[in-house]
Amino acid sequence: MHTLHSISAFRAARRLLTGPVGLVPTMGYLHEGHLSLVRRAKAENDHVAVWIFVNPTQFGPHEDFTRYPRDEARDAALLAAEGVDLLFMPPVEAIYPEGFGTEVVVHGVTEGLEGAIRPGHFTGVATVVTKFFNIVQPDRAYFGQKDGQQTVMIRKLVLDLNLPVQVVVCPTVREPDGLAMSSRNVYLGGLERAAAPVLHRALQRAESLWRNGERDATVLREAMRAVLAQEPLAQPDYISVADPLTLAEIAGRAPARGALAYLAVRLGATRLIDNVVLE
Ligand code: PAF
Repeated sequence: MHTLHSISAFRAARRLLTGPVGLVPTMGYLHEGHLSLVRRAKAENDHVAVWIFVNPTQFGPHEDFTRYPRDEARDAALLAAEGVDLLFMPPVEAIYPEGFGTEVVVHGVTEGLEGAIRPGHFTGVATVVTKFFNIVQPDRAYFGQKDGQQTVMIRKLVLDLNLPVQVVVCPTVREPDGLAMSSRNVYLGGLERAAAPVLHRALQRAESLWRNGERDATVLREAMRAVLAQEPLAQPDYISVADPLTLAEIAGRAPARGALAYLAVRLGATRLIDNVVLE
């Protein structure tokens, strides 16, 4: 594996790769969820590139940018063991040099859910993803369903800007008790960690109702609310049943194309998100 820190060095190494390249974008502190994306990329491409970049522009002023967990040496060892070809770890100044002044804004799908609570977050993600797609020039890029709204936004970005990249969305990887894997799970204290699987239980309740034919979004939302209410530590930011393409909240019956059940819940100082596709 070659580890590159500058854009010019990365481009030079990229030029030597022949055949399809799969890209796994990350902010590091890797877990099995990230590694499942790497394995899928490896299975479907001749080469795999990974970027590790904790992107400052997608964090709000009171969010966790400075304390976001980082362990570059451990991440590099994990990726080398998976047979990754190129690891790109640029410094912030390489991606946002002095005078940087361009933003990529994706409208519509970014306005609800996380977008309503974290203003500017998706513009930061769309901007950095566009830059990295331009630098890496991958054939395919792999993202986890865990960040469902992000995946919907990136598909739209690629479509709207005619970017020559195939977006592949992979299933959420979970701990044995159902908690979706996330680098931020390290923030959970003991009691919060014990309470955290309630998100998955609530989503499973919606899934089971859906499988039994329930299509009324209000009923599905209330069923998830009732499960969350059984856990005193859980403070929901939102409980959503949204259109899977537009992410607009569904008022009555879900459309034939299905729905996305989506939760954001605070457990103490930590905020978790999770979702399931109802199809
Ligand atoms: O999902 C993430 O880890 C980040 O949002 C991404 C796509 C790497 C952009 O910084």
